[in-house]
Amino acid sequence: MCGIVGYTGSSSAAPYLLDGLKRLEYRGYDSAGIAVSDGEKISQARAKGRLQNLCDETNDGKSIVGTCGIGHTRWATHGAPTKSNAHPHMSNDGKFAVVHNGIIENFAELREELISEGFVFHSETDTEVVAHLLEKYYDGDFKRTVLKTINRLEGSYALGIVCIDFPNEVMTVKLASPLIVGVGVGENFFASDVTALISHTRNVMYLDDGEFASITPDKITVYDCMGAEISKKITHINWSMEAAEKGGYDHFMLKEIMEQPNALKATIEPRVKDGKIVLDDVKLGAAELKNIRNIVITACGSAYHAGCVGKYLIEELARIPVQIDVASELRYRNPIIDEHTLLIAVSQSGETADTIASIKECKARGARTLAIVNVVDSTIAKISDDVLYTWAGPEIAVATTKGYTTQVAVFSLLALYFADELGRISEERYKELYNGIRNIPERCQRAIDLNNKVRDLAKKYSPKDSLFFIGRNLDYAACLEASLKLKEISYIHSEAYAAGELKHGTIALIEEGRLVIALACYHDLFDKLMGNIKEVKARGARVLGVAVEGNRKILAEADDTIFIPETDQLLSTIPETIPLQLFAYYVALENGCDIDKPKNLAKSVTVE
Ligand code: AGP
Repeated sequence: MCGIVGYTGSSSAAPYLLDGLKRLEYRGYDSAGIAVSDGEKISQARAKGRLQNLCDETNDGKSIVGTCGIGHTRWATHGAPTKSNAHPHMSNDGKFAVVHNGIIENFAELREELISEGFVFHSETDTEVVAHLLEKYYDGDFKRTVLKTINRLEGSYALGIVCIDFPNEVMTVKLASPLIVGVGVGENFFASDVTALISHTRNVMYLDDGEFASITPDKITVYDCMGAEISKKITHINWSMEAAEKGGYDHFMLKEIMEQPNALKATIEPRVKDGKIVLDDVKLGAAELKNIRNIVITACGSAYHAGCVGKYLIEELARIPVQIDVASELRYRNPIIDEHTLLIAVSQSGETADTIASIKECKARGARTLAIVNVVDSTIAKISDDVLYTWAGPEIAVATTKGYTTQVAVFSLLALYFADELGRISEERYKELYNGIRNIPERCQRAIDLNNKVRDLAKKYSPKDSLFFIGRNLDYAACLEASLKLKEISYIHSEAYAAGELKHGTIALIEEGRLVIALACYHDLFDKLMGNIKEVKARGARVLGVAVEGNRKILAEADDTIFIPETDQLLSTIPETIPLQLFAYYVALENGCDIDKPKNLAKSVTVE
């Protein structure tokens, strides 16, 4: 996601824009830019890297003249984080500048059409098509031009637009991406969220999807998607600044848990087209796979747990042997790697030292490398042969949530893609899983709707002592992540255990009142798992079950059960993880822990 801001009033616009962008840096921070109109020209300033570079380049905005402008802080999606890809983007005739948060799904055909009509592109972004469409449709009427332009766009967008012929007017448009309008006195604003406005005004208008607004210093006119003027109520914001940065949630972690449906949609949708999975420009089709004898997955922490899910999926569907190892082990165990090995490195930050070292070690031994990362142009993305990005957007909380689930989503896509490329899956089963993957965001939203029930269960069980997560197959992989989530934010010890292995020693720790959370979503092994629940119940354990809705058998043994939305057993890891993220969150809340910044932890471990 990115952040956009706009200002029009009697003051110099640039300092307002930079101040607003500072408040939005958590939404994206790999490049930034502003465009300001002074009635004669539009001045554009852009910089790669953190916003401070732009502030330095413009002397904190003092070098840019004009009282009407737009600004953008970028989280790269289409095109690397470079100055030429930074927003705002200009029309060829210099009359328009535009900033954008979202994804223009049909940008490729629009780009082709515009190039064929003689427009010249200067970036790799999807956004630039908007600037040229504005020029194409401009007939002297700003509003009509904007309406014609947005009628050509498909996808999600919050847009900010300035036109040199309307020197004190900004236009802003909303479809699927967040946008609000700030109502000042003799000055008005727009922004991606309230944090960028709250220090200037607490009176805002929330635009709805399809609406757009003409904003001048003394007037805000809102139009519906047909261009008819509509009235909007003004809301007074009484959040603190800190609450506003978290979108009204108490913690970034909870905000990011709630963002998962959108993060998953952004990760999956660009890769499913007309019934087939399309994996960007990754060069791992049938021809390349014929040269791969084994896959090695390496990562750390939660990314490693996503890899554990990936191992099950790739072996089950593509029938390629997969080893998995934490990066700190792989790099030092003299691994058997050669040119027939595909190394899949997983990392949210793309900067984890052990993972980077493992990639280099395996490349030196001839492996082909594929990275699954969240940060565009991060070190791991740059040193790998192929990259599949998780479009989760910036993740602020140290404990990953959307970073992990989007990694699992990418593994689901990859496993199915490999199976299809190698001809190892029936058309019917492919279609089942293809549709199942597309439904993941909706299942995830329904799992999030369990929030209140999970909060009550966290209070009811409120573990103070060590507890166990048990499961089989993919449920066991999900246990690993659930256990880490609880440990790292509540500081309560827990252990993830393969349910069938418990009886080989560790069951000695099960005693009266011990909490065991049993993941029972993997349908084919449900009866076996029920046997394991009986084993621990017989020794006095309290069992909190996680099962698929409609499976009433578990009620015979579990003390309480969280029912997740029905989904294919190969795809249940994400919906079943959501309530376990929430469980960890509410237990940590009960314990008064610093949820977003747990003790001893860092968001990215860039040292050994
Ligand atoms: C996840 O909640 C932890 N903060 C940690 O295990 C993390 O997953 C691990 O350090 C790997 O980080 P990366 O994904 O950025 O490489």
